[in-house]
Amino acid sequence: MLPPSMQTPLFGKRVLVGVGGSIAAYRACDVVRRLRELGAIVRVAPTRAAAAFVTPMTFEALSGMTCLGGVLDVAHGRIPHVEEAHASDLVLVCAATADLMAKMAHGLADEALLATLLAFPGPVVVAPAMESHMWSHAATQANVATLRSRGVHLVGPVEGVLASGRSGAGRMAPVDDLVEAAAWAVCDKDLAGTQLVITAGPTVEDLDPVRFLSNRSSGRMGLALAVQAARRGAQVSLVHGPLRIAVPAVPGLTPIAVRSAAEMHEETTKRAARSDAAILCAAVADARPRTLAKTKLKKSKGELTRVELVPTRDILADLGAARKKKKAKRPVLVGFAAETGEVLAYARGKLAHKGCDLICANDVGEAGSGFDVDTNRMLLVWPTEERWLPHASKDEVAWHILDEVKALVARTTRRR
Ligand SMILES: Cc1cc2nc3c(=O)[nH]c(=O)nc-3n(C[C@H](O)[C@H](O)[C@H](O)COP(=O)(O)O)c2cc1C
Repeated sequence: MLPPSMQTPLFGKRVLVGVGGSIAAYRACDVVRRLRELGAIVRVAPTRAAAAFVTPMTFEALSGMTCLGGVLDVAHGRIPHVEEAHASDLVLVCAATADLMAKMAHGLADEALLATLLAFPGPVVVAPAMESHMWSHAATQANVATLRSRGVHLVGPVEGVLASGRSGAGRMAPVDDLVEAAAWAVCDKDLAGTQLVITAGPTVEDLDPVRFLSNRSSGRMGLALAVQAARRGAQVSLVHGPLRIAVPAVPGLTPIAVRSAAEMHEETTKRAARSDAAILCAAVADARPRTLAKTKLKKSKGELTRVELVPTRDILADLGAARKKKKAKRPVLVGFAAETGEVLAYARGKLAHKGCDLICANDVGEAGSGFDVDTNRMLLVWPTEERWLPHASKDEVAWHILDEVKALVARTTRRR
């Protein structure tokens, strides 16, 4: 069993939430609440202007901690911004005003938040919020470039309705995106420099304008792999079929939405060529209707009982064959097998037949494993060994699988 910190990266992490004088300051309240729900220890550092928008009392009630006060509020001989800089794992500035970013870029320290930022060596995430002309102004953009060049991670702003009632770029990013960025920022980046293509979810094979063939895959396992990999610093292309769950905005994670097996084949193959590993977790349809009817098939004419199916192209087998032809070690190929019994035998067969490095197999007939549930019991099968992973959440299973992918990628690096 992994420690909880690996399942929810923010668990036990100390986050300083800096808030600037923006209408969006009220949304920082929600950020504080969400971070605490995920197990973070949160303290808020409002600027003097922020306190005119949301009272420190509100932030203190939501965080359960006193706010970081003025920069000269020294109590009991302790210097708050220095203590805070040492204690924090992450500083998340939301909402970041044009003024705050200018001061950060130029190293000013006339607020406790700014002084803490100067004394803080860890990750900083900034969510700007302002009118669109303030955002696009050359001064703001120059400050943004300076902050980025120092490793500050910016989230948003996004297009939308602004406080003035006008629309444009400058609205603070959604709270979900800020929380995801915070989770990403506190994770160890042991997969930095690794390029992955991951497939997830079902594919949909259209029959006529209203009907299709598909399967019960929710996409949760592939999504867990993609999210965990991006949090660990990998650049991830997630090629996914229609999902019932939203793809979170994790830095480094690029979703590519497809529908059919043919589209998934094309998008995956294209990206696999420049990836260190391809992890094929999607439940790709094995067959599709030979023809796509332009008008609705008629039951009364018997058209539905005469549907002819043809096989789809096998993405894993094609990638395996291409790699063999080039006598290359990359990309590392990881396949998934959803079976209903004789899991090991089928997994071994698939591993050999498709020419891949690792098969992650599970018995989807087993309770708490496979489609539409949050947990999985996986059997990992390599050419010369196999190992059951403990029955665990899909996040935790993803973590173990990525450890194995990392080892396989490292092995191919050494051999090159
Ligand atoms: C109603 C109102 C809303 C404001 N909203 C923003 C905003 O969203 N973004 C921004 O950069 N400045 C905004 N300002 C201006 C800032 O409050 C002002 O620049 C202030 O000095 C920022 O201080 P701080 O950066 O120390 O928090 C707003 C001002 C008012 C009066």
